[in-house]
Amino acid sequence: MLTVDQLGALRSTLQAWRASGQRVAFVPTMGNLHEGHHSLIRLARERADRVVASVFVNPTQFGPNEDFGRYPRTPDADADGLRAAGCDLLWRPSVETMYPYGAQRTVRIAVPDVTETLEGAHRPGHFDGVATVVARLFNQVRPDVAVFGRKDYQQLAVIRYLVRDLAFPIELVAAPTRRDADGLALSSRNQYLSEDERARAPQIHRTLQWIREAVQAGQGREAVEAEAARRLTDAGFEVDYAVLRRPDLSLPEAGDAGDGERVALVAARLGRTRLIDNLEFVA
Ligand code: PAJ
Repeated sequence: MLTVDQLGALRSTLQAWRASGQRVAFVPTMGNLHEGHHSLIRLARERADRVVASVFVNPTQFGPNEDFGRYPRTPDADADGLRAAGCDLLWRPSVETMYPYGAQRTVRIAVPDVTETLEGAHRPGHFDGVATVVARLFNQVRPDVAVFGRKDYQQLAVIRYLVRDLAFPIELVAAPTRRDADGLALSSRNQYLSEDERARAPQIHRTLQWIREAVQAGQGREAVEAEAARRLTDAGFEVDYAVLRRPDLSLPEAGDAGDGERVALVAARLGRTRLIDNLEFVA
């Protein structure tokens, strides 16, 4: 596996691959990689001749009170895991390389609509920061395929909007969420949980499964959302949202239960750790 931190070296390597007709898949990450990320690399391997991963902790997607400074940085373990999962090239730019005018003075990409609810409402500017860095990464790597996890459901919706609206010639692949045996979705943030919090954390997945069952049994959205929030609160969470939506995150209309695809989404805090998860199903 090659590790590259200069744009010139990235471009010459990729140009040589493309010139020999090889298809390139790309997996952007912020590092501190776990099995969830590794599964994206393996999926990318199946879709292309070459796999590029990026590790870049992106300052423009963190709010002023968020964890940019203390976001865990584990470069050696990340490189080992990527190599073992079948990555060919690790793109690890500095902040200066990513944002030549500085992270405050960059051209920003603002995605409307889908960024306004749920995560977007709780983390103002977050998704614009994600879109801003992903557009740059796409221009740097110019992949044929890019792989994103369904774990970050709304992020995936933002990226779909970005790709279509800015006409990036890139096929998006959505990878399933990897979980621990007790249902907790793998996340870099799980390491911040105390033993007691870790024992409570699977309640998020259980609540998502309960929402699915209740909706499939015909219960109405508002009652289901209220009961889901109550269950999480009882388990010691501070709930940001526990909701039922259509796949595009719009509200299902009263009376159209039983007719289609739904997604349940939760964001909730245990102590200082904020966890998100979701479950897609057919009502
Ligand atoms: P990061 O949180 O490092 O996640 C990188 C990718 O891994 C995302 O597509 C995310 O959805 C996926 N992922 C995380 N946990 C997963 C799990 N348990 N199962 C499957 N996939 C999982 O998301 C970001 O970084 C950043 O916002 C980024 C897109 C890189 C832009 O900075």
